[in-house]
Amino acid sequence: MHEARRSQMCLPHFFSQGFAHVIAATFTEVEAEVARLTRQLARERAARQEAEAIAERSTRDLYDQQQRLILLQAMVVAANEAIRVEEAMATALRRICSFTGWSVGHVYLCAEDFAPGVGLPGRVLSTGQAAWIQNLSRDPNFPRGKFVKDLTLKTGVAFPLSVGNKVVGVLEFFSEEQLEPDEDLLEIMTHVGTQLGRAIERQRSHEALRGREEYFRRLIENALDLITILDADGTIRYQSPSTRQVLGYEAEDFLGKKASDFIHPDESAAFAQALNNARQQQGKTPIWTFRFRHKDGSWRVLEGSGNNLLDDPVVAGIVLNSRDVSERKRIEEQFLQSQKVQAIGQLAGGVAHDFNNILTAILGYADLLLKQLPPKEVLSLNAVEIKKAANRAAALTRQLLAFSRKQVLQPRVLDLNGVVSDMDKMLRRLLGEHIDLTTIPQGDLGRVKADPGQIEQVIMNLAVNARDAMPGRGKLTIETGNVVLGAEYCRHRTDVSPGEYVMLAISDNGCGMPPEIRARIFEPFFTTKDPGKGTGLGLATCHGIVKQSGGHIAVYSEPGRGTTFKIYLPRVYEALEVIGKYDQPTDLRKGTETVLLVEDEPMLRELGLLALSGLGYRVLPADNGIQALRLIEQHRGQDIHLLVTDVVMPEMGGKELAERLRVISPQTKVLFCSGYTEDAIVHDGLFDRGIAFMQKPYTVASLANKVREVLELPS
Ligand SMILES: Nc1ncnc2c1ncn2[C@@H]1O[C@H](COP(=O)(O)OP(=O)(O)OP(=O)(O)O)[C@@H](O)[C@H]1O
Ligand SMILES: [Mg+2]
Repeated sequence: MHEARRSQMCLPHFFSQGFAHVIAATFTEVEAEVARLTRQLARERAARQEAEAIAERSTRDLYDQQQRLILLQAMVVAANEAIRVEEAMATALRRICSFTGWSVGHVYLCAEDFAPGVGLPGRVLSTGQAAWIQNLSRDPNFPRGKFVKDLTLKTGVAFPLSVGNKVVGVLEFFSEEQLEPDEDLLEIMTHVGTQLGRAIERQRSHEALRGREEYFRRLIENALDLITILDADGTIRYQSPSTRQVLGYEAEDFLGKKASDFIHPDESAAFAQALNNARQQQGKTPIWTFRFRHKDGSWRVLEGSGNNLLDDPVVAGIVLNSRDVSERKRIEEQFLQSQKVQAIGQLAGGVAHDFNNILTAILGYADLLLKQLPPKEVLSLNAVEIKKAANRAAALTRQLLAFSRKQVLQPRVLDLNGVVSDMDKMLRRLLGEHIDLTTIPQGDLGRVKADPGQIEQVIMNLAVNARDAMPGRGKLTIETGNVVLGAEYCRHRTDVSPGEYVMLAISDNGCGMPPEIRARIFEPFFTTKDPGKGTGLGLATCHGIVKQSGGHIAVYSEPGRGTTFKIYLPRVYEALEVIGKYDQPTDLRKGTETVLLVEDEPMLRELGLLALSGLGYRVLPADNGIQALRLIEQHRGQDIHLLVTDVVMPEMGGKELAERLRVISPQTKVLFCSGYTEDAIVHDGLFDRGIAFMQKPYTVASLANKVREVLELPS
C-alpha cells in the first residue's frame, strides 16, 4: 500500500518526458507496476488472512485455556469445600460434563466396585493411566454393551483419581459422538484427577478422624463414670453427660463453676488440699473420696482420681475420673452396722444369762416374802416394790434378748388388725390425753405369722417414741394394709426380698429426724434422750423382732414434719389361730413328790428349796451334776420323781446329768431351766417325753406350775 502510493506519486515524473515514447514506455511500466502491485496486494491479503487466523486461533486457545482454568479451579473449590467425598464427586461430574459436552459420567471410589483390568475403569485401575475408547461397541474389553447401546454412547474416556502413585478412584465419561483421543482433554483431566484424588484422600482421613473422635466421644458420653476436666484453679471446663444420671445436673450446669462449690462443706479443705497436690505433681493422684452435692440436695459419695495433664498441649487441664459409690458405701455401712449389732447381741445375750439368774432370785425371794408377810404392811409393800423393780429389769433383759434375736419366739398366725384393736385401750392410756390416736385398719387384711407378744412390744415401742416426739399436742395414726414389695423397692435394700407383705404403719406429726439421726436409730443404745429417759434399745429391739419374724422395717422422717415407721411382715395364707390370753393360774399348786434340785447359783438353789419345800415337796439340793449323782447314790431305793436342773454348770452340766439319770432311774422326769436360749439344750432337741424346759427368770408361781405340769406328764 505504502509502496503503491509512492508509485502513484511518481506518475507526473514519467509524463514530463516525451509523450508517445513516454506513453509506450509508460504503458509497459504501468503494466509491470500493476502486476507488481497486484502481487503485492495478494501477498498482503494472504499475510493478513494468516494474521487473522493466528489471532482467531490464539483467542480460541485463550478461551479454552480460560475454561480449563475455570474447570480446574471449580474442581479445587468443590474438592475443598465438600463435606463429604460423594458431594465433591457429584459436583465434579456435573462440571466436567458441562465443560466437555459429554453426556454420561461415573465415579468409582473404591477398588471393590470393579475388577482390575476389566472394562474401562478396570484398565485405569491396573495401569494408573487414562484410557480412551473411541468406539465402544467394537472394544473387546468393554462388558457394558447393553448400557452403551441403550444410551447410544459411542466414545468413552476414564482417568484415575490418584494420590502419588496410588489410584483411589476412577472417573469415566461417555459421549454420544464418536471422538478421537483429545490430548488436551486428557491432560486437563489428569490435573483434575490429581486434585480430586487428593480431595478424596483428605476427606477420607478427615472422616476417619471424625469417626474416631465420635467413637471416643460416645464412649465418654455413655460411660457411667464421670469425667471432669478442671483448669489449674479448679474451674470446671468439661463435664461428661453421665452427670445427668449420677448427679442430676446437665453437663453445662458445671461449666465455669468451681468444683469445690459442690463438695460437702466438711470436706472442702481436704478437697482443696487434694487438688493442690494434683496440681503440683504430674500423673495420677491416689484415690479420692468426697461427698458431692446432687441436684436434689442430697450428697453422693464419689470415688476417683485426678490426672494432672496441665502440660499436655491437647488437654491442658486436670482430668478427674470418678464414680458414684454411695450405694456401695451404704451397703458397707449396713454390713458394719449388722456386725456391730451382732457383737453387742452376743454380749447382751451373755449378760442376760447371768442377769436372769439374779432376777429369778430377786423375784423369787420377793414372792416368798410376800407369802410370809401379812398383806398391806410396810414390809410387804416394800417387797411389792422390789418385785416391780425386778420385773422392770426382767423386761429390759427380755429386750436385750429380743434385739439380739436370741429369744424363743412363739409365732402364731395372726391378724394384725386384731392385735392393734386389742391394744387400743392400753395405747390410749400410754399416749395420754393430748395425743389423738387414729387407727385405719384395712378390711380383708392378710395374715402374718409372728409372736403376738413381740408384735405388741414393737407397737408399744413405736407408740412411746411417737409420744416422746410430740411433747405438745399430736396425732398418732396406726394403719394396716396389704402390700406387694416389688423388685425395684428391694433392689436398694439388702434385707428384704420381693413378695406379698402385710404392712403396719405408725405415723406421728412430731419433731421428725434429720438424716444423720435417722441413719443411727436402730443402733443399740443410740438415744437422743436425756440420761435416764431412754436406753436407746427401743428401736433396736423392734428391729430385732421384725427381722427375727422374717420382716422388714422402713422409716420415713423429716425434721418438723413427723415420722412414719412401716413394718412389713410376710403374708401367710394359713388359718388364724385363736390366742389364749395370759392364762396364768393365780393359786400355787402343791405336791409331795421328791424333787432333785440342781443349780450352781446358791441364791437360786436356796430359793428353789424354799419355794418347793414350802409347797410340800421333798427337795434334795445339789450344786452340780457330780454332787447330784452322789445324792442319788445315797438315796438309792427311794423314788426321785423329778429332776429340776440348770443347763450350764461346772463339773457336770444338766444335759449329761439327765442322760446318766435316764440309765439309773428311767422313771424320773426332768425340767431344765435356763436364761439363755443359745444353751445346747434348746438346739440339741433333748425334749423327749417327760423332759421340759423353763425360761429364766421365773417366778415362784411359774416354777410351782411348771413342776406340777411335768410331774403330771404321762410316764
Ligand atoms: N417417732 C420418732 N420421732 C422422732 N425421733 C424418733 C422417733 N422414734 C425414735 N426417734 C429417735 O430415735 C432414737 C432412738 O429410739 P429408741 O426407741 O431406740 O430409743 P429411745 O426411745 O431413745 O430409748 P428407749 O426406747 O430405749 O427408751 C430416739 O432417741 C429419737 O431420737
Ligand atoms: Mg424408744
